Amino acid sequence: MADISPYILNEATQNGIEQENNRLDFQHYFFDDIMNNELLPPHIAHELATNPPPRICEMATGSAIWLKEIAKTLPMSAELVGLDFDTSKFPRPETLASNIKLGFANAYEPFPEKFQSHFDVVHLRHFILATKKDHGARLVQNLLSLLRPRGWLVWAECDPIKTNAEPPSDAMFRMQKVYYNHLRNADLETE
Ligand SMILES: C[S@@+](CC[C@H](N)C(=O)[O-])C[C@H]1O[C@@H](n2cnc3c(N)ncnc32)[C@H](O)[C@@H]1O
Repeated sequence: MADISPYILNEATQNGIEQENNRLDFQHYFFDDIMNNELLPPHIAHELATNPPPRICEMATGSAIWLKEIAKTLPMSAELVGLDFDTSKFPRPETLASNIKLGFANAYEPFPEKFQSHFDVVHLRHFILATKKDHGARLVQNLLSLLRPRGWLVWAECDPIKTNAEPPSDAMFRMQKVYYNHLRNADLETE
């Protein structure tokens, strides 16, 4: 199933990786601002705080920026795991808090036994660009296998096509074009 992902934004060169990591980090702070700096919905953050230590997995973690930020809000006993099928964007382990571990996984393939039913929260963001029509149910079923009973799957998206930039921005138009072309190629809704 390795060829199932239509994700097109990974870069092969060293400069490309740096640029892509900068984009992912910038995108995180932009999104975080829109979300009033709430890295998780408040009721989930509250429950995690009252039942420590939390176990959190971020699927498609990229530069691990979300994990690095949520680590600052949790005790060191929290277990934080980031998974991605492109490990080239991972920060060096020595630059991460010691309770953050990163590893390889394809979101569409079964996960290692040790992660099954293991996590309180699975976090996924901006994954529409890695999804095709009719793959959603299979993806969600696979992600749910990571969760303990009554755990939470937190999947956050924004829709660039319905987003405006003030003043109008050429970069925003180019992003909208990439997004729109992906939706058409992946046979997803464009309205
Ligand atoms: C979906 S975005 C999420 C980025 C980051 N987690 C964030 O929220 O800012 C980009 C990441 O998804 C990863 N990705 C795309 N398809 C994937 C798949 N099928 N399995 C695992 N990771 C995937 C890419 O390698 C890239 O690092």
